[in-house]
Amino acid sequence: MKIVDLSSRSGVSEEMDSLDSSSDRLQRTLGQFELINRVVSRYRSTLTHSVLRDMAQDSSRRYRLADLGAGGCDIARWLIRRCRERGLRLTISAVERDPRAVRYARAANAGYPEIQVVEGNALDGGLLSGADYVYANHLLHHLTDAECTEFIRQIEHAAPRQYVLSDLLRSRWAYYGFWLAAGPFFHGSFIVRDGLVSIRRGFTLQEVRALVSAAAPAHPVTVCRHLPSRFTIRGGTFLNADTARSVAPGAR
Ligand SMILES: C[S@@+](CC[C@H](N)C(=O)[O-])C[C@H]1O[C@@H](n2cnc3c(N)ncnc32)[C@H](O)[C@@H]1O
Repeated sequence: MKIVDLSSRSGVSEEMDSLDSSSDRLQRTLGQFELINRVVSRYRSTLTHSVLRDMAQDSSRRYRLADLGAGGCDIARWLIRRCRERGLRLTISAVERDPRAVRYARAANAGYPEIQVVEGNALDGGLLSGADYVYANHLLHHLTDAECTEFIRQIEHAAPRQYVLSDLLRSRWAYYGFWLAAGPFFHGSFIVRDGLVSIRRGFTLQEVRALVSAAAPAHPVTVCRHLPSRFTIRGGTFLNADTARSVAPGAR
């Protein structure tokens, strides 16, 4: 495998971002995200300590979450199942730009009337209106730096109770580790090629902090690092420092 330049964010595009890419491979990619997310995305602990914990403080009301760049919606379905178990009422607006992913997600969400899949651009701030929570997993690396900052600014303006943005750190260890771990197992999809491009489009922790600062957030924001080679940005009007520390001690 050739040596890649990871000194700055790459501008190389992912296959899945092209509307001309194979729909069959895209569908397999969306299906395989479920396993990838389970293994590396840490969404269960993150959403349990943020959204579910916050909702439990007043379980009598109904809440709304915007899941931006929702892909196949496997995380949204997991969250709805946890809410049902706990007697919590949540509606999810899953925003997705690619019409093929929208169709895939709508079919996969049969039996989940709590999730509405909306075809749209996550950078359209109007989609955030009325959201108690905003969530995005693996969306930021699809955006340019300027778009990331604008995105965070729009979320801050919408002032949800909490927001959680998770994505990839760019490092040699992440790049070659993913190549070794995923290469032999994921076939017939964009997972391996786009996964490597995603890491090249990922961020250093310093870059994430600079993007957050550039958005001039009005409320406290925490940037945490997680294994394996991931970060989470958490903010919102109901985020308190103790909650943030309990997710990733000392990582403020
Ligand atoms: C790497 S996938 C992650 C999907 C899902 N969040 C997950 O964790 O499995 C990124 C998704 O974001 C979508 N996307 C990229 N840019 C977008 C934008 N500006 N607005 C809405 N969706 C976008 C892509 O079509 C893709 O489905």
